[in-house]
Amino acid sequence: MKPATAAALDEAAAILGGGGLVAFPTETVYGLGADACNERAVARIFAAKGRPQFNPLIVHVKDLAAAARYADFDGPAKALAARFWPGPLTLVLPRHADSGLSLLVSAGLDTVALRVPAHPCAQKLLAAFGGPIAAPSANASGAVSPTRAEHVAQSLGSEPDLIIDDGPCSIGLESTVVDASGETLCVLRHGAVTLEELRTEFGSVADASAAGETAETVKSPGMLARHYATSLPLRLDATSADPDEAYLAFGEALPPGAARTENLSPSGDLTEAAANLFALLRALDSQEYKAIAVAPIPDEGLGRAINDRLRRAATPA
Ligand code: TXA
Ligand code: MG
Repeated sequence: MKPATAAALDEAAAILGGGGLVAFPTETVYGLGADACNERAVARIFAAKGRPQFNPLIVHVKDLAAAARYADFDGPAKALAARFWPGPLTLVLPRHADSGLSLLVSAGLDTVALRVPAHPCAQKLLAAFGGPIAAPSANASGAVSPTRAEHVAQSLGSEPDLIIDDGPCSIGLESTVVDASGETLCVLRHGAVTLEELRTEFGSVADASAAGETAETVKSPGMLARHYATSLPLRLDATSADPDEAYLAFGEALPPGAARTENLSPSGDLTEAAANLFALLRALDSQEYKAIAVAPIPDEGLGRAINDRLRRAATPA
């Protein structure tokens, strides 16, 4: 844990550049940050949080111009951003196909959640790093969001390579998440920017939580109608492959005979496998094959999130 000096922020930027994890304050809560363009680093976030599912993460950028490099700001999105950024508002928008962002950061969705934080420390870190920073709240899965650096240390121990301490968060509640990717605006998670404020300025705004569901249940990848599912059927726990199947391997075992084989991680490393999951599913999802046979993945650590995602993708909609 280090105070937010210029030297500490430079060190933090270097850690991010090297694929490491840095916990840092925003005006809402502390975030656990990683380079949003580095699949492996983003996979480390999920491993550090011990989350059994891949939920999409928020990508932090320094301003609207930076945000516009990664997503479409059509309709009211630009006005929302102009009105509430920097600040406690996260916008879910269609991601550019060539955004360069990690696929895991969106949990395979074709949207991305973007936020411009107002906190000076977060802004300085974004400037020092010079790229987008993926950051969920810096707590272990199931724990409450941290509003002080000590909370991060208590919840995540030594998982972050560095924790920047800049005192308590002024808001202390996560950002409001608004889905601006469709026809109508929809609040997925309530926060400091209120529904009333949004409705006053932007007219009709739907409230996903009115259905008694949280952003997590409504928009977690498995619940989303438009979540990325392969068009080919998946055959899980496959230790052999047919000649008309593609094979998604894990570890050293490579059954012969598949039409094409890709390996999530030849060395059996679950963080590497998580980082490769969405890209390899997409690569193998071709009509040339009848199905994708997937090797057994150990159901431990990040393997639980990988298996959760595979099971959902294997269940026809
Ligand atoms: O205040 C905050 O928002 C903090 C600070 C660090 O920025 N971050 C935070 O992140 O709370 P996290 O990962 O704990 O929550 C992200 C929320 C989740 O509810 C997630 O489902 C939603 O944003 N989300 C992210 N990407 C999404 C997407 N593409 N579609 C729908 N929901 C998304
Ligand atoms: Mg959270």
